[in-house]
Amino acid sequence: MALEADLAWLRAHTPLTRRAAEQLVEEDWHDHTLCLAIHLDLKMIPVVEALRQTGARVLLLGANPATTRDEVVAWLTEAGAVARAAYGMDDDARLEAMDWAIGRRPTFLSEMGGEVTVRLVRMRPDVAAAVRAGMEATGTGLRRLAEVALPFPVFNWDELPLKQGLHNRHLVGLTVWNTFLNVTGLTLHGRRVLVMGFGPVGRGIADYAQRWGAIVAVADPDPRRQVEARHQGCLVQTLEEALPAAQVVITATGRERVLGSPQFRLLRPGAILLNAGHSNLEIDVPALRRFSPTPVRPHIEAVDLDGGRRVYLLAGGAMFNLAAGPGDPYDAFDLTSAIMLEGIRFMVRRHAEFPPGVHLFPAEVEHAVVANLE
Ligand SMILES: NC(=O)c1ccc[n+]([C@@H]2O[C@H](COP(=O)([O-])OP(=O)(O)OC[C@H]3O[C@@H](n4cnc5c(N)ncnc54)[C@H](O)[C@@H]3O)[C@@H](O)[C@H]2O)c1
Repeated sequence: MALEADLAWLRAHTPLTRRAAEQLVEEDWHDHTLCLAIHLDLKMIPVVEALRQTGARVLLLGANPATTRDEVVAWLTEAGAVARAAYGMDDDARLEAMDWAIGRRPTFLSEMGGEVTVRLVRMRPDVAAAVRAGMEATGTGLRRLAEVALPFPVFNWDELPLKQGLHNRHLVGLTVWNTFLNVTGLTLHGRRVLVMGFGPVGRGIADYAQRWGAIVAVADPDPRRQVEARHQGCLVQTLEEALPAAQVVITATGRERVLGSPQFRLLRPGAILLNAGHSNLEIDVPALRRFSPTPVRPHIEAVDLDGGRRVYLLAGGAMFNLAAGPGDPYDAFDLTSAIMLEGIRFMVRRHAEFPPGVHLFPAEVEHAVVANLE
C-alpha cells in the first residue's frame, strides 16, 4: 500500500513521462525483446509499464544492487516484465543475471552502466550480432563501451544537453546533500568539503555544497576543469594538499579506486567519505574493509585506520544519493524518464539509419519531450 500511494503521487507529478508513454500506445513491439539494466527504483515503474504496453518482452536487470528496490521489482514482475534483480545481489549473482538476460537474446538494450553490452559483445558475439541497437545513460557506461568494438549502434543519452545540464549538473548535487543531511544529521555550514572530479556531476555537487555553506576544494587532473572550478569559487588543490584538511570527501570521477590506500593515509581524523559516481569502487572499499569497519548508524560505518584515526564511510561507497536516499525528486526526474522513453522509441524506429558505434541522440528526441512542457 505504501508503494501504491507513493506511485500515485509520482504519477501525479510526472506529466512529461505520461505523455511520452502515450506516444507508445500505437507501437507494436511484439517481436522485440528489450533488456533494461537500470536503477530499479520507483521512478522506473511508469517507464517499464509504458514499454510493456507495446507488447515487447521486457527483461529487467539492476544497474546497481544497492539501488534496486525489491518491491519495485515485484510490482514490475506483476506488470509482465521478467526480472533478475534484487537488493544487495553479490557479483556472482549479477553476472549470472546478465548471462540469463543475454541468453534470452535481446533485440534492444537500454543501460545505465554498459555492463551487459560489454559482456555480450565479448562473450556472445552470436547474440550481439542479432542486437539491433542499445542506449547508454552514464559516463561510466560510455567509457566501458569505448573498450569494445560495438557491432550495433548505441545511443548516448548521458551527454544530451538537457540530461547533462539539468539532471547530472543540478539534481545529483541537490540530492546528494539532502541525503547527507538526512543520513548524518549534519549540515555543511563551514565544513571543508573536497570534491574529486569536476565534470557536470562534480560541478553540481560543489555548487550545492557551496549553497549549503561549505568551504569547497576541488581535485581534478584536467586543467580545463580546474579553471572552471576556480571560476566557481572553489579552491583547486592536489589530493596531497586537500585531503589533510577535508572533513568530507566526495568522489564523482566515473573511475575506480581514485580514493585508495595511498590517499587514506592523508585523511584527517573524523573525515566522512562518500561517492556519487556510478561505480561502487570509486572509493577503494575493499581496502577499507581490511580495517573491519563497524556500523554506527544506518548507512554510516566507522573505519579505524592505522594509527587509530577514525574515518567514516557512507552507504558502503555506493552511489550515495540513490543508495541511501530517495534519489532524484520525482518532478525533476520526469524530464529524464521522458527522454528515456522518447529515446527508446527513436532507437526502435530509426536504429537502421545509424552505423555501429556510439551516437548522441539527435536533438529531436529532447525537442519531442520539451514540446510537452506546460
Ligand atoms: N549519483 C548520481 O545520481 C549520478 C547521476 C549521473 C551521473 N553519475 C555518475 O557520476 C560520475 C561522473 O559523471 P560526469 O558526467 O561528471 O563525468 P565526467 O567524465 O564528465 O567528469 C569526471 C571528472 O573526473 C576527473 N577525474 C578523473 N580521475 C580523477 C581522479 N583520480 N581524481 C580527481 N578527478 C578525477 C576527470 O578529469 C573529469 O573531469 C559518473 O560515474 C556518472 O555515471 C551519478
